[in-house]
Amino acid sequence: MVQAIAQWPKGGSTRFYEFKVQMLQVKKLCNTRSIVTINQMYPGPVVYAQEDDRVIVKLTNETPYNATIHWHGVRQILSCWSDGPSYITQCPVQSGQTFTYEFTLVKQKGTLFWHAHFSWLRASVYGALIIYPKKGVPYPFKYPYEEHTIILGEYWQQDLVQLERNVMASGGGAPIADAYTINGHPGPNYNCSANDVYMINVVPGKTYMLRLIGALLNMESFFSIANHKLTIVEADGEYTKPFATDRVMLGPGQTLNVLVTADQKIGRYSMAMGPYMSAQNASFQNITSIAYFQYLGATPNSVAIPASLLPRFNDNLAVKTVMDGLKSLEIGQVPKEIDMNLFFTIGLNVNKCGSKTPSQNCQGVNGGVMAASMNNNSFVRPNISLLQAYYNHINGHFTEDFPGSPLKFYDFVNGAPNSAPNNTGSTNGTRTKVIEYGSRVQLILQDTGTVTTENHPIHLHGYSFYVVGYGSGNYNPQTANFNLMDPPYMNTIGVPVGGWAAIRFVADNPGVWFMHCHLEIHLTWGLSVALIVKNGQGPLETLPHPPADMPRC
Ligand code: C2O
Repeated sequence: MVQAIAQWPKGGSTRFYEFKVQMLQVKKLCNTRSIVTINQMYPGPVVYAQEDDRVIVKLTNETPYNATIHWHGVRQILSCWSDGPSYITQCPVQSGQTFTYEFTLVKQKGTLFWHAHFSWLRASVYGALIIYPKKGVPYPFKYPYEEHTIILGEYWQQDLVQLERNVMASGGGAPIADAYTINGHPGPNYNCSANDVYMINVVPGKTYMLRLIGALLNMESFFSIANHKLTIVEADGEYTKPFATDRVMLGPGQTLNVLVTADQKIGRYSMAMGPYMSAQNASFQNITSIAYFQYLGATPNSVAIPASLLPRFNDNLAVKTVMDGLKSLEIGQVPKEIDMNLFFTIGLNVNKCGSKTPSQNCQGVNGGVMAASMNNNSFVRPNISLLQAYYNHINGHFTEDFPGSPLKFYDFVNGAPNSAPNNTGSTNGTRTKVIEYGSRVQLILQDTGTVTTENHPIHLHGYSFYVVGYGSGNYNPQTANFNLMDPPYMNTIGVPVGGWAAIRFVADNPGVWFMHCHLEIHLTWGLSVALIVKNGQGPLETLPHPPADMPRC
């Protein structure tokens, strides 16, 4: 490992952080509760670094829960052991235990974030990861007067580990969040929250950069500022061509940097986050979370100018418009030739009720049990770390037979995988897909309408990928339009509702990499797969040994 690092670009320094998983008492929405946090901060501490820096985070778990941290968007070049998804790259860090994450931000800069990756703990365990360009390297736009981080979240007045268990046991959907939050604050639309509001004070005429982070659990969200344009300049930690818009949509796992100029009349303006829900018949929290964008000189208690720019909850066109505007700033290194063509369907399923107490355990659609799948396989979480099983050749914990394309082709958007009308079930298994080192991969992600079509934010660990195309309906290679010039380079792609997205990447990072829907309920239901990228040749293409303090399951 040391050997390999010595060959990486020089000049990075080492940033050391201590993360203590601790309970914190918070008073929100008229109630006092204990929530799981890092260092008793909510949102958690910001990790600052510069491109090519080494980051070392010592995690100590002082709660009764298991915990891990995932560094969302970090490529983890040759450091898969520090990626963080529990039961995929590590066993969770148990109560009282310690584990040290170590990775280098090789050629990475911009806004990313970190979050817990055990059960549903990331609902309160998250924070920003801000990577500045190397010294002397400017932003490719006029320097903002100030930068602020805006994290969109969901607040739950429940024990999140217990909640996941209850939802699983019920066979049905998840209850809705108690509130949406902006930097942990629900804002004035919620009960007992008139003063629980986030606020940015701005100087008239100045331009601000907002680092927007989608740390939501089970929802996607629109964001806008009353009367102000947002100019997107970065998405998922990669520069984009500047694109001005009235609103943006962030799914969980997505980050956007936007520039905002305080060019309106002096006053207090609402920054608003509201739901984006593309599924049919789903219930969701419908109260908007408000923060203030307040001009210097505005009277302290002035009435906030309402957020009229927030779209309706099912405005799919608003989502598409922003997506159409995302282009890499520079001409990308998009793979033109493809070695491996993959086609994964993504969607929901209803499995038959097998319980003797259906009213308790089969609360899904038509009295069934809810599930979700890729290529109609619901991923079963193993009870040891997949990476450890793979690395140490421990048999019996996973198979390598995840299909590269659906076993059955049908009208994905309008049909169902099985002929029996009431059987939309999936298979179960800890199936992985093995990829040769260096393969140039194209993957089509196809939404299905088996239960309902829906925009799914699909995240791939350990990689960013070029989003070379997307569209509505069933993917058709004859008519699909691809952008191989300047597609955005992302780590999470919101696959359009009832549509598809095509991504490309070079499998140049060995390890076991989780790929999943970032809507937590869908992950729980099995909408995931693990990709195993084999070692190449030589030390720079080989996953090093695990760290000595790897937790045990
Ligand atoms: Cu941000 Cu596997 O997640």
